[in-house]
Amino acid sequence: MKPWETLDTAQVPDVGDVTLARRGEEYVLRVRGQTLMSSRMHGSEEALAEAGCADLVSRGTGRVLVGGLGFGYTVRAVLDRVGPGVRVTVAELLSAVVAWNKGPWLSPLARAPLEDPRVSVVESDVARLMAKNPTAFDVILLDVDNGPSALTHPDNQGLYGLDGLNNAARALRSGGTLGVWSAGPSPIFQGRLEKAGFTVKVLQPHAHGNKGPRHALFIAKRQR
Ligand SMILES: C[S@@+](CC[C@H](N)C(=O)[O-])C[C@H]1O[C@@H](n2cnc3c(N)ncnc32)[C@H](O)[C@@H]1O
Repeated sequence: MKPWETLDTAQVPDVGDVTLARRGEEYVLRVRGQTLMSSRMHGSEEALAEAGCADLVSRGTGRVLVGGLGFGYTVRAVLDRVGPGVRVTVAELLSAVVAWNKGPWLSPLARAPLEDPRVSVVESDVARLMAKNPTAFDVILLDVDNGPSALTHPDNQGLYGLDGLNNAARALRSGGTLGVWSAGPSPIFQGRLEKAGFTVKVLQPHAHGNKGPRHALFIAKRQR
């Protein structure tokens, strides 16, 4: 098997070392040595966009917030489903990830979603962006960590707590949808979503097509 080749490393305050590595055709993003995203499997990242944006498909306009960028598969899947009048904001905590997505290594993976005129990228914690934009979004898709357990940033734990979910609910328009990616099911997290006023559906797509482990997607509707 070919060895991993480190392509670039960024030292990020409060986060540590963030590395982009490649082995053959596969790319991985690592935070402090732990894999946060791999290009090998991205079916559930795309399923998050499909389920989260279902209500927007037949509408010509709307606003979607995607946090974070990763390798851009979720953003690409949103763009492939929604119309030309929909605007997509991507909140990404790590500026290195944004730069890598604009460069030759990562931009081809999801067909350069950042070049789409409907997309704007904000280098920010998605929690801050939600707090600053009340009732702004029809859909919010969160895939920032390995689910409701923080890896990238200690503050991410707060995103999945009741305060974080109330923050997301406030950033949504009435009847809007919050979609949350998770490595696995979590009845506790589902209960917390319901406590924050959401009606919740849980999907369990495979990581890749009909193969790989099953991840969990929480598709939560804010009541009108
Ligand atoms: C698992 S990856 C996302 C994968 C993405 N869904 C895709 O399709 O490629 C997680 C991303 O979220 C970013 N991130 C982590 N915490 C964040 C936060 N609080 N706000 C915004 N982005 C964050 C990470 O830097 C990383 O780029």
